[in-house]
Amino acid sequence: MAQSKFVGKVKWPVDVKLDKGLEGAITNATEIGYVDGQKGKLFYRGYDIFDLADKSTFEETAFLLLFGKLPSKEELETFNKKLVSYREIPEEVINVLKSLPKDTHPMAALRTGISILGCLDNKADQVTVANDTEIAIKLISRMASLAGAIARIREGKAIIAPNPNLPHAANLYYMMTGKKPDSFTAKTMEVSLILHADHGMNASTFTCMIIASSLSDLYSAIVGGIGSLKGPLHGGANERALSELLKLRDENDAVRYVKDCIVNKKKIMGFGHRVYKTYDPRAKILDKYVKEACEKKGLDHLYKIAKKIEEEVITVYGKKGIFPNVDFYSGILHYCLGIDPKMFTPIFAVTRVVGWCARVLEYLPENRIFRPRAVYIGPLKKKYIPIEKRK
Ligand code: SDX
Repeated sequence: MAQSKFVGKVKWPVDVKLDKGLEGAITNATEIGYVDGQKGKLFYRGYDIFDLADKSTFEETAFLLLFGKLPSKEELETFNKKLVSYREIPEEVINVLKSLPKDTHPMAALRTGISILGCLDNKADQVTVANDTEIAIKLISRMASLAGAIARIREGKAIIAPNPNLPHAANLYYMMTGKKPDSFTAKTMEVSLILHADHGMNASTFTCMIIASSLSDLYSAIVGGIGSLKGPLHGGANERALSELLKLRDENDAVRYVKDCIVNKKKIMGFGHRVYKTYDPRAKILDKYVKEACEKKGLDHLYKIAKKIEEEVITVYGKKGIFPNVDFYSGILHYCLGIDPKMFTPIFAVTRVVGWCARVLEYLPENRIFRPRAVYIGPLKKKYIPIEKRK
């Protein structure tokens, strides 16, 4: 069998030390995306995220991540037609979502919706690249429709049917809010989805790959990814970063907030990153959209407070490699667009499902179950004591 391009000795660009949380561990070789944590760079299939955010669309970026190349006009049209054709959510799913407790966390609702879609797909268990690629397109399309439905059900409002004439990002906003986005909102939603589509071997992506590596079905893998992304240390940070920010009245409060976190060793939401030891490029890209969104909403003070937090954190923690990450700015941006903070992480899932599927599909042809080792440090050969003789 020809030597696989995905195995063999690799020259890893940085020194690695294996540490808790699998720090330094390499899971596999990939051509999908690269995060340069030292230089603060992010590439999707070799394209710089700054170019994609500026010039691409969510559909084009999704195609690039899934299939490894920028689509021709015809390929993009076919891909988009398929995405649009899958937007409708089956009634059975809507009925269950409506039956969930009112205070169900939207990520729990999203996880449930995907799980039911899997039960309704009679090809779910045909684990092949061809079939899973079709399921991936269905999932990418329907994750947005699910998020839209969940947002409306949470507000006790009628569900908005997907609009086949709106692009994916604009349609997501429309299904969540009932409003067609203006050009600025449509562009910021597009950029937000592009920026969050893939990000190396993050916890939720790794979760999906572990599940899929047992040749379990793609729906099960994506349910796992949603579960992981829900956590406050991962995708849940944007909602928390915003809620901290909204408690602050001015820049003096910002200084006090950061000082309190430092003194009391509290994690500052929206800062720090396992890989980036400098500015997260996605935070840099979002910054200008956040500034404009705050100005448009008369929330300039919010932007000033955010910049003060950033300045204070970098002054103290910059030397430790702690800088703003994408979550610090994505929360403010979505808030300015009038989106319920509880829906920030579902929006993250709406686009990260692309990276999850792309990496599962890349690994499948030469699949091998993920099975790391743990170093056993406990005792051995202990003597069994019958219960009557135990103290
Ligand atoms: C995302 O992996 C990805 O790529 C994720 C993501 C993606 O696109 O998929 O980029 C999206 O999840 C971004 C991160 C969102 N999470 C947060 O903003 C939550 C706050 N951040 C931290 O919890 C933390 O920075 C993590 C979880 C993001 C990274 O954690 P690590 O790499 O395990 O770092 P750590 O907790 O071991 O911290 C190392 C040191 C510690 O200090 P010491 O004990 O060495 O003295 O840095 C400190 C930490 O206390 N530290 C922070 C901090 N982040 C790290 N101190 C204060 N505030 C922070 N935010």
